[in-house]
Amino acid sequence: MPYAVITQDLTRRFGNFTAVDRINLAIPTGIVCGFLGPNGAGKTTAMRMLCGILEPTSGSGKVLGFDIATQSELIKQHIGYMSQKFSLYDDLTVWENLNFYAGLYNLSGSTKHQRIKEMIELAQLKERQDQLVGTLSLGFKQRLALGCALISHPKLVFLDEPTSGVSPASRRAFFNIIQDLASQGTTVIVTTHFMEEAERCQQIAFFSRGKLLALASPDELKQTSLEGILLELIVPDPLGIIDDLLDLPFVKNCSIHGSSLHVLVKDQASTQQLAAYTGVQPQLIVPTLDDVFIALAKRQESEVPA
Ligand SMILES: Nc1ncnc2c1ncn2[C@@H]1O[C@H](COP(=O)(O)OP(=O)(O)O)[C@@H](O)[C@H]1O
Ligand SMILES: [Mg+2]
Repeated sequence: MPYAVITQDLTRRFGNFTAVDRINLAIPTGIVCGFLGPNGAGKTTAMRMLCGILEPTSGSGKVLGFDIATQSELIKQHIGYMSQKFSLYDDLTVWENLNFYAGLYNLSGSTKHQRIKEMIELAQLKERQDQLVGTLSLGFKQRLALGCALISHPKLVFLDEPTSGVSPASRRAFFNIIQDLASQGTTVIVTTHFMEEAERCQQIAFFSRGKLLALASPDELKQTSLEGILLELIVPDPLGIIDDLLDLPFVKNCSIHGSSLHVLVKDQASTQQLAAYTGVQPQLIVPTLDDVFIALAKRQESEVPA
């Protein structure tokens, strides 16, 4: 199966409000795909539809070859899902939590024990397998929740903000695990707010206000989505100059990055015009994913009024 997920105009409304608006996804098997976008963009809603736990209002799609509208039970059996508010039992041990989830998938006997052992290894919790979950740090809990989501060896796993609220070291450890999973053939769909995690995804789906604005690799996004030339400008007072720059006809966008400005200009000639205007020589830079998302959101703003 070349695509783990494929959708056509998948849409979800809540009353008059459209939370997910005609999204067309095609996510190849065996990759890590990152869902990115501001809060309220529709990432969780899209994920819940793909998991078979929320009915679409319109549109269609297939997950692992199963129809979202008519085969949601089969989807649920074949995927793993770690929700934003994952639930573990604090008064059970690590081992007992995995045993509980294994039971939900009807695993039993030696297969069950084998899977639990594997998940304890995957989550790097061997020394803590008899510890009560209530006493674990959030980073350990997240890895255990991942183990619970993977106990049935799903071919596709959905992880909704699995690394929020933990240290950078814990986040990296978590992402190492999911990259290993993908390299062994499991498709991983993960929402995140962290750019260093986005960079580690093979594909990024960028959501904003219910729309899917882009689906591409980090490199493709950087090369294709800016429609202009990105310059870095180091000036003494970036905040004081930003509005003046935005008014210039050859400046398409301008944003503050630490002590410097990233200025998106129309073309090569604009570089010298900007130098003449500010008295500072701007430097050509490779865009970051932040630059890409700023540009995509800005374009959406100018195309569709809120
Ligand atoms: N059950 C619901 N009822 C009404 N509105 C909802 C419901 N679930 C989500 N929404 C709204 O849909 C929008 C998208 O939410 P969500 O998918 O959670 O975004 P994200 O995960 O990108 O932060 C938000 O404005 C949210 O308030
Ligand atoms: Mg969410």
